Amino acid sequence: MKYPRILAALAAVAGLASAAAVHAQAAWPTKPIALVVPFAAGGPTDVVARTLGASMTKSLGQTVVIENKLGAGGTVAASQVAKANPDGYTFFIHHNGMATSTALYRKLQYNPLTDFEFVSQAVDVPMTLLARKDFPAKDFKEFQAYVKANASKINLANAGLGAVSQLCGLMLERALGVKLTAVPFQGTAPAMNALLGGQVDILCDQTTQTIPHIKSGNVKFYGVTTKNRIKALPDAPTLHEQGLKDFEVVVWHGIYAPKGTPRPILDKMNAAVRTALKDPDVTKRMADLGAEIVPDSKLTSEGLQTWLKSEIDKWGPVIRAAGAFAD
Ligand code: MLT
Repeated sequence: MKYPRILAALAAVAGLASAAAVHAQAAWPTKPIALVVPFAAGGPTDVVARTLGASMTKSLGQTVVIENKLGAGGTVAASQVAKANPDGYTFFIHHNGMATSTALYRKLQYNPLTDFEFVSQAVDVPMTLLARKDFPAKDFKEFQAYVKANASKINLANAGLGAVSQLCGLMLERALGVKLTAVPFQGTAPAMNALLGGQVDILCDQTTQTIPHIKSGNVKFYGVTTKNRIKALPDAPTLHEQGLKDFEVVVWHGIYAPKGTPRPILDKMNAAVRTALKDPDVTKRMADLGAEIVPDSKLTSEGLQTWLKSEIDKWGPVIRAAGAFAD
């Protein structure tokens, strides 16, 4: 007789707990939400996160707080988010590095496909090839000749292994058949400061940070990394059209949550991302900075998951062939 009573009591407790969980999900969000950015404040990923976060704050009724967690090309932040409480108050924005790090790091502390929940993609961003203002090459033809002749003296800033600046630099080195000296920073915001200060020679970086500097003429600018010219810089040639055949790096962004975050919360977050991407303040800022809002088919949890898998499959062989690894 004793056991049925204990079982009934346990069932009642479980019922109360699950009712509390359902209530918490229905009421979400009841406090500020962290959106973790894996690179320095003021840089390209941070700009996208803050632009979306400001709009999502309006639609969610709770502040989306940007937390910059730096280190190891975005992998420090990814490991922390993978282990975070899946209570719906921690989200993560990352780019191609979520895929490329699986090939770049021998001992990655997380699995991007199994340790996260997928919210949505957001925007695609072109990259631009820049050099310090007094770099001795006035156009891309001269740039190639100078870099090939002086490779051992030239350095290339990036945001660490796993950063798209590193990926773009790697592809540039392969295309030109050179090896330059990498200078890693914890984001391309500090890398850009070093370029503006003349402490580094070359930086491949996203339009979300570079357009104002290109327009002000504080840097040398040699072309964009997309196959076609972009609306935000209509006169700028692509590297592809200037002879680097099929050279293409486009930066895509995904929003993730720790594995186990309840589906109703992921769905509400997805709706908030979609609302933000229709907000005129967001669409104008993104357009001004060269970022393109992705089609609806990519604004889904499944769309991001499938895309991430395809990117892991795409970049793995490229990176392994280039032999760029870290522990
Ligand atoms: C950043 O936000 O600093 C960049 O996205 C880093 C990079 O991947 O190059």
